[in-house]
Order: sequence, then structure tokens, then C-alpha cells
Amino acid sequence: AARLRVGEALRAREPVEAVTVQGWVRSVRSQKEVLFLHINDGSSLEHLQVVADPSLENRDLTFGSAVEVQGKLVKSPHKMQNMELQAETIRVVGPCDIWSFPLKMKERHPLEYIRQFPHLRCRSNTLGSLLRIRSEATAAIHSFFQDNGYMHIHTPIITSNDCEGAGELFQIEASSEARESAEKTHFFNVPAFLTVSGQLHLEVMAGAFTHVFTFGPTFRAENSQSRRHLAEFYMVEAELSFTESLQDIMQVIEDLLKTVTSTVLSKCPRDVELFHKYVAPAQYLKDFFFFSSCRVSYSEAVEILKQASQTFTFKPEWGCDLQTEHEKYLVKHCGEVPVFVVNYPYDLKPFYMRDNEDGPQHTVAAVDLLVPGIGELCGGSLREERLPFLESRLQRLGLADAYQWYLDLRKFGSVPHGGFGMGFERYLQYILGVDNIKDVIPFPRFPHSCLL
Ligand code: 4AD
Ligand code: MG
Repeated sequence: AARLRVGEALRAREPVEAVTVQGWVRSVRSQKEVLFLHINDGSSLEHLQVVADPSLENRDLTFGSAVEVQGKLVKSPHKMQNMELQAETIRVVGPCDIWSFPLKMKERHPLEYIRQFPHLRCRSNTLGSLLRIRSEATAAIHSFFQDNGYMHIHTPIITSNDCEGAGELFQIEASSEARESAEKTHFFNVPAFLTVSGQLHLEVMAGAFTHVFTFGPTFRAENSQSRRHLAEFYMVEAELSFTESLQDIMQVIEDLLKTVTSTVLSKCPRDVELFHKYVAPAQYLKDFFFFSSCRVSYSEAVEILKQASQTFTFKPEWGCDLQTEHEKYLVKHCGEVPVFVVNYPYDLKPFYMRDNEDGPQHTVAAVDLLVPGIGELCGGSLREERLPFLESRLQRLGLADAYQWYLDLRKFGSVPHGGFGMGFERYLQYILGVDNIKDVIPFPRFPHSCLL
């Protein structure tokens, strides 16, 4: 018998005489003359209906059990489905104790409830759809860059630098047993950390390949319980050499968002629809079809905030970071569309950002993209490619020794360059309207929680 995935069986054009389908039971409905099952194997949001003789029913055939069904794939008489499976045999591969199983048949469990069961929630419709979308979006991001001439780089997860200079680092050491044999030194001789960003390593590679990207896990020890922060999240980062304008960076961000989102929409329309029907109304996505982003400078943004009739908890002031409430207001002010904010205060930003040499309000060529419902989705900048500027800034920060290699990049064939990073989970939250970032990653890590 041909073995078919549920998705393949549902899409079949013609009946098939002998097929085997394996999966998990999502519903059992037993009537006098017929037994109905729905089975799912993760290949689609839709379940395959199995129609069987009541004699095939058995005690172990319950919601949640794993089954293998053999029979005939036939056209379904129901309008809502294309094909159904007429069972000849049903084998329960693994029974499921429905009384202690946290998921219940035909219930729409709240996301907060299933979050307690990271080992089981992938068997719910919502997480199933989320994970299929996440997988397609990952592939689409890789394709976008590869199709546009960027080379993929595996930047390291273990590193000895703090790229963002914010001190939100997880330090790593060998566990105590392993340490005993290594005497009282650091495993790597120097303090080592989990990376907060692959940017500096990408800058190295941009010095040879011009267009590079990386897409991997990043780690931040921010003690934040917010619905937009994780201790481990995925970041998409790109770096472009021979780039002198923030416009170029913003263009890449826009193209990336448009291309990846339209690919996701066309590859998993049903999964996306589930979110827009049951999790959040479809308002956000409209932006992508007419991606009319707004562009303001940081100084203009502060003026807009100062003139707002709204009172803020944090008073807007030139030189201070934009708070969540400020970001929200700016996005609303621009008409609930994505907003690029450029040219931030020099003193607010990391050492690598390019000096705009302006004043008295001294800025760097930084860009953040703020989006409705989320706030900051991307952060990027032109990088300081001029040796004297970078050298003196690093010296003032006491980092000149540690970053000799980085200064080397400015000594040996330095070029104007820039790049950005996009939080992948925030992107998923944005296009799907998911309120809490913990619901868009398979295994969320945040302060006081590291389940599994
Ligand atoms: O703005 P960030 O800190 O920028 C950088 O790390 C640059 N080095 C990137 C670059 O230019 N190559 O982080 C980039 C994005 C943020 O805009 C945000 O979307 C996301 O990463 N992000 C987080 N997402 C989830 N949880 C956290 N704790 C995050 N911190 C940042
Ligand atoms: Mg940022």
C-alpha cells in the first residue's frame, strides 16, 4: 500500500485503492453504523477524515492516540473536504490516556494554557500552524538572501566579545567536573559568552564577500518578562559592503519583509488564516501589500512626541531612548504603518555606529524599524569605517586592546558598509498578530524559565 502523508492524501486528485496513513487522532465520533476519525500528522492544518465500520472501534482508539490506518482513499461526499479514507484496518500504534493528557478533544485551548506543556503543545492546531509558518519563513529568508547574491555565514555562538556593549551577556564555563581537570583557568583562556549578535563576525566576512547574512540563535541576559523579549531568540542579520547610505539598508529591510511575507502567505494560507481568524484580526498584514513605510529622524520623532496631546510615563527628551509608549505613539501618528527612525544620538548607540559629524545634537547613522503592535522589529546602522574615528571611540571606552582585530579591518582595505538585524520571533508576532513572543518559538527561554 502507498504510504501517504495526511496533506498528500487531502490533495490527491484521484482515488487510491490501497493506502496507509499514519498520524495522531484528533477526534473520534462513533455512530451506530459508522465510525468517524480525524487524523493529523503535522503535514497540514486540515485533518484527514477516516470512515470506518464500527467493528473497528477499540478501547485504545482515543483522542491523542497514534494510529496507522489502511484502506481506500476516495472522493468525499462532503463539500468541505476533497478526499476521505475508507478504513479497512486501524492499528493503534501508541495509546493515549485521555484523562491525564492536557489537550482535550475539540477544545480551543488558550495559548497561555498550552504554554505550560512545551512537549505537547505542538499537537494543537495553533502551535502546529505556527511551527509550519516558522519553518516556511525560515526557508524564505534563506532564499531571499541567496537569490539576491548574499552568502550565508555560520557566525559563532560562543564568542569573546560583547557586540552591543550592553553587558547583557551569558558567560559560559565548563561544568564543575570538567573544570577540575582544566585547573583554575577559563576553558578558552579568556572569558567567553553566548553571542548577542553575529554582526562583528559578519563585518569580517563582508570584507571578503561584500554581501553576507547569518540567521541563528542569539542570547541576551535581559531581566525582562515582557511579551517582546526572550533570553534566546533568532536573529536575521545582513551586512553590505560598499554602502554609503542608510537608504540602501532600509531598502533591503523592506524587500526582505515583503518577499518573505508574501512567500509565507502563498505557502501556508490556511495556517496564516487560523491566526487571523482566531488569534488576531488581519489588520497588520494589509501593510505589506502597500508597504508604505514612514521615515522620520530621531530628532523629528522627539518633536512629534513633545507635541503629542498624550502624556507619557517617560517624558520625551532629546538624548533619551525611545520607550515602548513612544514607539507606539509614533506608529499611530504615522497611521499604523511601519516607521523607520534614523540618526540616533551618538551617546545612546554602540561603538560601531558611524559618526554623522553633526552637532550640537550629535548623532550616528543608525536605523530602527518600528512596526504596529510590536515596536522595534529591526535595528541597523552604517558602520564606522574610518580608522581614526573608531580608534578614538574605542580608546575612550577602554576597548581598543580587545578590538585590535576590528581596527585591523579598517586598516586593510576598509570600505563604507552597513547592515541590520531583525528579530525573527518579533517578525512572526507581527505578521500573525501574536501577543506574546513565548508563543512563536518552539521552546521559549526567559528569566526563571527553561523548560525541557
Ligand atoms: O537592535 P539589536 O540589539 O541590534 C543588533 O544586535 C545589531 N548588532 C544587529 C545588526 O546590525 N547586525 O537587535 C536586533 C533585533 C531587534 O530589533 C529586535 O527585533 C530583536 O533583535 N531583539 C530581540 N528579540 C527577542 N528578544 C530579545 N531579547 C531581543 N533583543 C533584540
Ligand atoms: Mg535595537
